Amino acid sequence: MCGIVGYIGHRDAWDIVIKGLKRLEYRGYDSAGIALMNGGLKIHKKAGKVSDLEAHTLHEDRSGTTGMGHTRWATHGAPSDRNSHPHRSGDGKLSIIHNGIIENYSVIKEALLAKGHVFSSDTDTEVLIHLIEDIHSDTTDLLEAVRLALNEVIGAYAIVIMSQDSPDQLIAARKGSPMVIGVGEGEYFIASDATPIVEYTKNVIYLKDSQIALVKRDELVVKTIDNIIQTPYIQELSLQLEMLEKGGFEHFMLKEIYEQPRSVRDCMRGRIYPIEGKVQLGGIKDYADKLKNVERIVVIACGTSWHAGLVGEYLIEEYARIPVEVEYASEFRYRNPIISEKDIVIAISQSGETADTMAAIELAKERGATIFGICNVVGSSIPRITDAGVYTHAGPEIGVASTKAFTAQVTVLTLMALYMAQQRGTVKQSDLVSMLTELDEIPTLIEQALKSDEKIAEIAEKFKDSSNCLFLGRGSGFPVALEGALKLKEISYIHAEGYPAAEMKHGPIALIDEDMPVVFIATKNSSYEKVISNIQEVKARKGKVIAIVTEGDKTVKEMVDYIIEIPACNEAYLPLLATIPLQLLSYHIAVLRGCNVDQPRNLAKSVTVE
Ligand code: G6P
Repeated sequence: MCGIVGYIGHRDAWDIVIKGLKRLEYRGYDSAGIALMNGGLKIHKKAGKVSDLEAHTLHEDRSGTTGMGHTRWATHGAPSDRNSHPHRSGDGKLSIIHNGIIENYSVIKEALLAKGHVFSSDTDTEVLIHLIEDIHSDTTDLLEAVRLALNEVIGAYAIVIMSQDSPDQLIAARKGSPMVIGVGEGEYFIASDATPIVEYTKNVIYLKDSQIALVKRDELVVKTIDNIIQTPYIQELSLQLEMLEKGGFEHFMLKEIYEQPRSVRDCMRGRIYPIEGKVQLGGIKDYADKLKNVERIVVIACGTSWHAGLVGEYLIEEYARIPVEVEYASEFRYRNPIISEKDIVIAISQSGETADTMAAIELAKERGATIFGICNVVGSSIPRITDAGVYTHAGPEIGVASTKAFTAQVTVLTLMALYMAQQRGTVKQSDLVSMLTELDEIPTLIEQALKSDEKIAEIAEKFKDSSNCLFLGRGSGFPVALEGALKLKEISYIHAEGYPAAEMKHGPIALIDEDMPVVFIATKNSSYEKVISNIQEVKARKGKVIAIVTEGDKTVKEMVDYIIEIPACNEAYLPLLATIPLQLLSYHIAVLRGCNVDQPRNLAKSVTVE
């Protein structure tokens, strides 16, 4: 994980780098540091958030027009001042920031120790800058030394290097970790994603794997680490600055929850034609024939995206009648999965950078499967390694706990299920017309669901001091329950479990007493009666029940302690609506507990390590 920013030009590097690091804090926030070329190589670093670094250096000279910075999510070495980046070479003349993991760092370190190198941190990154220094002592060209060093490295990296002896240049390289270079007038910007760059230039180059760049104010040279000169492709960003601001909301998470009517609408735009009963997915249209005959789909994802995958399983099996398996990418990649060229693999990832999902894709590719991606970040790594795909178009998601990205993923999976059904003729045309007409209304229904916000805040007050919470649902309500539980534990640190409601009696029922809140997805759908029985089982044991119900439901209201209503909808779209109150419930509980909802402890939004 970790976020990196570099700048060379005519403006104050500090301002650009610190602002950029704040935008990248979603990638990690346990320590931060900045190096500046300011009459020599000056480094400021500190454990804690980027704002701590800012406060700590308030009275220092932070001038200089070349600089780079890092916000860290610790892998090798605890979060501390000494393990913070940037790191220096032994002679202090070179400095590095790094996102990724150098897997063979201990072998390299041993060899360097034998040569007399002395290390002052526990990180893999410091080993890399010492290796570069070591090679540089035999070759005068720093770029060449970096290139040769990277040829010895196993692992993933996005790095930027500064040198005291070459103050007017930065060297950048990447493999497996993302890197974007912004092209300005007499200035260049380097960052883990485009968010630190967008307010200065819209022209960017996405550095490719195993490319290395020499960046000067008026010159950019890109080559591969095999020393082949490359012509960089400059493209225009569609990202808008306002998308990265809180827009009057107290937290990004709340803003993103409220953006869902728009993000779901954006996700469907140009893809559904209710009157004709038609779904159009340009990204996968070349595979329409394969979809007609495919015998199995495997979904791979992590975290919230995995929950979206489980919803996708219900939808694709129900409407397209294709068997679906949903796998954690981290498990899939370390087994010997049975997968072949007959299969379609759908990889789901908000960031498009998750290391386990990337590795699982590579494995499935090696075995000949066709890979579809469902990603949010345009131009990220996963869409570049898949055969085809559909972007979610939810816009930047900054809160670490995923909200609008999840509903957008579910929307894409809904579209995919109906698109597949259309190709295979498994849903009648008239039913497609009515389903798409209802789907078109979902953004409006989400708006209505958001109206329960105040009531949910009151319910949150009652449960803010709970130590545990159970979330139960059946059918596609089960992945919704899992997602509700994940949201609560991620941001409020309350232990929460999601379970299929019927499975409760095989274990979790033992936990139920008068202190145990149980959240039920109890909307009027095919499992309504069964869920009512499960609610009674909980009430008989004095559990406190909060039920998500269909508007106007009187039966459940009489049985439970609290209800939260959502509008009636087709069962297929239940996850899109039932998720909304659960997001709000977690949000309010976390705020009441004084938690940092946008940056929960120990988590990061983009997990680029395995
Ligand atoms: C991290 C994030 C989660 C996310 C998961 C998968 O754990 O905190 O919100 O669901 O990674 O990320 P992806 O970008 O692949 O969806």
